[in-house]
Amino acid sequence: MRLKDCHNFHDFRRMAKQRLPGPIFNYIDGAADDEGTYRRNTSAFDDCDLIPNVLRGVTDVDMSVTVMGQKLAMPVYCSPTALQRLFHHQGERAVAAAAAKYGTMFGVSSLGTVSLEEARRIGNGQPQVYQFYFHKDRGLNRDMMGRARQAGVEVMMLTVDSITGGNRERDKRTGFAIPFKLNLAGITQFVIKPGWAINYFTHEPFKLPQLDGHVDMGGGAMSISRYFTEMLDPSMSWDDVAAMVQHWDGQFCLKGIMSVEDAKRAVEIGCTGIVLSNHGGRQLDGSRSAFDQLAEIVDAVGDKIDVIMDGGVQRGTHVLKALSLGAKAVGLGRYYLFPLAAAGQAGVERALDLMRIEIERGMRLMGCTSVKEFNRHNLRFRR
Ligand SMILES: Cc1cc2nc3c(=O)[nH]c(=O)nc-3n(C[C@H](O)[C@H](O)[C@H](O)COP(=O)(O)O)c2cc1C
Repeated sequence: MRLKDCHNFHDFRRMAKQRLPGPIFNYIDGAADDEGTYRRNTSAFDDCDLIPNVLRGVTDVDMSVTVMGQKLAMPVYCSPTALQRLFHHQGERAVAAAAAKYGTMFGVSSLGTVSLEEARRIGNGQPQVYQFYFHKDRGLNRDMMGRARQAGVEVMMLTVDSITGGNRERDKRTGFAIPFKLNLAGITQFVIKPGWAINYFTHEPFKLPQLDGHVDMGGGAMSISRYFTEMLDPSMSWDDVAAMVQHWDGQFCLKGIMSVEDAKRAVEIGCTGIVLSNHGGRQLDGSRSAFDQLAEIVDAVGDKIDVIMDGGVQRGTHVLKALSLGAKAVGLGRYYLFPLAAAGQAGVERALDLMRIEIERGMRLMGCTSVKEFNRHNLRFRR
């Protein structure tokens, strides 16, 4: 399968599956427990339909948005994801460059494999998000914020839905872990994908530069699962986060908010954004999809804070439906990860290009010249 044969999410996913060893493909593709939330994230978009207006003289389409003070050329951004070097040797470099080319934000994960400083340089002036977790070590939290400030990061994104790791049964079956602890079946999967292995071992070694100096993980002393259980602070509270928001004194959002009560508290403590998210179904299986929960949250706080959502987005029309309900922007996860795994930077660029074309075409067919024109009148739920 070649890149030019990829026309949508499913094609990229198929190409990534061909290229990646099974344990890595399943790490990206998998989710928690029975993966019900993961499936719902995408199927939720099918419960409503767009209602187009015609004869509106749509010549120029402007799909730009401003979210948390950042102007984006399109209403989607690349949500932070961990370990991209494993998926393709270009890793975050590819995603940062592709996002910059398409005028949008790129989120660097604290579990990213390229430093946020380097990602920033590649990002070429496009706004950058730094996603981090709340550590028991308050000094480490402050250090991370200090480093982000020095690097010039525009938006801090604290992930709040991961005080413990989700139950990813596919990873248990394959033995996927960092460092690798593969079982025999897992090892076989690597042996039958020599292309990936050659690519992986002939490029620079895997590392986690956001955590280097704080945690020895890449080297093998600490596994990612131990990082979650030993380094992160499950007692993290609203007061702790309020202190961080104050300390940062800039654009700060919480990723993984789902309830109205929490959304209101985010407003109270001075956050400028919230990302409705269930972490791509990878944390609490049975949690509601962000799209299903969007209207409720927008009604409660949409005039006080920027409401963003992620999860299950595979099409331009999914984005248009989220904008219709009041989302300010939409995060992409696997939508760009499979293209990264399939073909590196060229893959991510193709995926973002297809998304841009789909959004533009959708806007024309909806009779909208600007994102601001989307509202609930152009959407109907079936039940
Ligand atoms: C392989 C993978 C790694 C991820 N790593 C992180 C991470 O390090 N930090 C984080 O906040 N979210 C992480 N996420 C969640 C994404 O940021 C995003 O919320 C999710 O992928 C959206 O769902 P989607 O993949 O269906 O678009 C990860 C998701 C995937 C698939």
